[in-house]
Amino acid sequence: MAPALSFTAFCVMAFFLVALPSSRSLPFIVLHGIGDQCVNRGLKKFTEELSEYSGAEGFCIEVGDGSWDSWFMPLEEQAAVVCEKVQKMEELRKGYNIVGLSQGNLIGRGVVEFCDGGPQVKNFISLGGPHAGTASVPLCGTGPWCIIADNLIKAHIYSDYVQAHLAPSGYLKLPNDIPRYLEKCRFLPKLNNELQDEKNSTYKQRFTSLQNLVLIMFEHDTVLIPRETSWFGYYPDGAFTPIVPANQTQLYTEDWIGLRTLDEAGRVKFISVPGNHLGISNDDLKRHVVPYLEDKRRLNTRVQGMRGRARAISTF
Ligand SMILES: *[C@@H]1O[C@H](CO)[C@@H](O)[C@H](O)[C@H]1NC(C)=O
Ligand SMILES: *[C@@H]1O[C@H](CO)[C@@H](O)[C@H](O)[C@H]1NC(C)=O
Repeated sequence: MAPALSFTAFCVMAFFLVALPSSRSLPFIVLHGIGDQCVNRGLKKFTEELSEYSGAEGFCIEVGDGSWDSWFMPLEEQAAVVCEKVQKMEELRKGYNIVGLSQGNLIGRGVVEFCDGGPQVKNFISLGGPHAGTASVPLCGTGPWCIIADNLIKAHIYSDYVQAHLAPSGYLKLPNDIPRYLEKCRFLPKLNNELQDEKNSTYKQRFTSLQNLVLIMFEHDTVLIPRETSWFGYYPDGAFTPIVPANQTQLYTEDWIGLRTLDEAGRVKFISVPGNHLGISNDDLKRHVVPYLEDKRRLNTRVQGMRGRARAISTF
């Protein structure tokens, strides 16, 4: 009798040890940058390592066929695709965290701000996100499609055709062409509530509901122009100098999307790390990303679960 009982107790305790943590820790999704795709080795490894370090389940969410669509599907559509996917994922029901890479950050913010009825996003960790726009076409190498894309963008960024067919045109913000940017650019002005007569308080309300917004800037970023866009800093309208720090932009001072509210509540972490675009070291990953993916209650829950169960069994 006694051995049987303690075996049951052991099984129950083992069950709680194994089952509780995974049922309580919040999963995260990874949204990749332009020209990348979830099946790529680097991205797989990145997602797996984050999972391993944090103990949280991670999912790389693909848009369409990956690399191609990341270039040529307009960002609002990409955000809608991700919105639909996260709504359907049972695993995210109780909320989740977002890890954004480069352009993926704008998709992620699109999901936070535009996704009606989606699961709650808790922490948003942004690596090299062009949050305030970028003044240069992202480099994708020398492939023929890249050259065509590059030329198209430079010549006709704010034409209806390019806006409808090239993702990065949705966040190219040329400081010397702000009126046309505001009039024609289809994604970022909306995402950042920049349009005088079309500000939507729902976007602000949703963005402000984040628990933490971690903005990681790469000190030697040569892809994002200027790199301070990773922190919501940018050029002033009409000129390429000087760079306006995030907290002196109108977006911040007038609190168009709630960045100021979040910051004043101590929920925005402005982090600067060495390295070029997305070149984060393992140490920095562990220091600045993993803590926001870890469930801090995990260990406590585990111990309490064991104690509670053991006590109940001993009264049999
Ligand atoms: C603001 O955005 C929400 C969510 O997408 C939408 O339901 C609402 O109609 C928008 N309001 C206006 C005034 O456009
Ligand atoms: C703006 O941010 C900088 C750090 O980037 C800080 O030193 C400064 O005090 C802030 N200014 C205001 C007005 O909050």
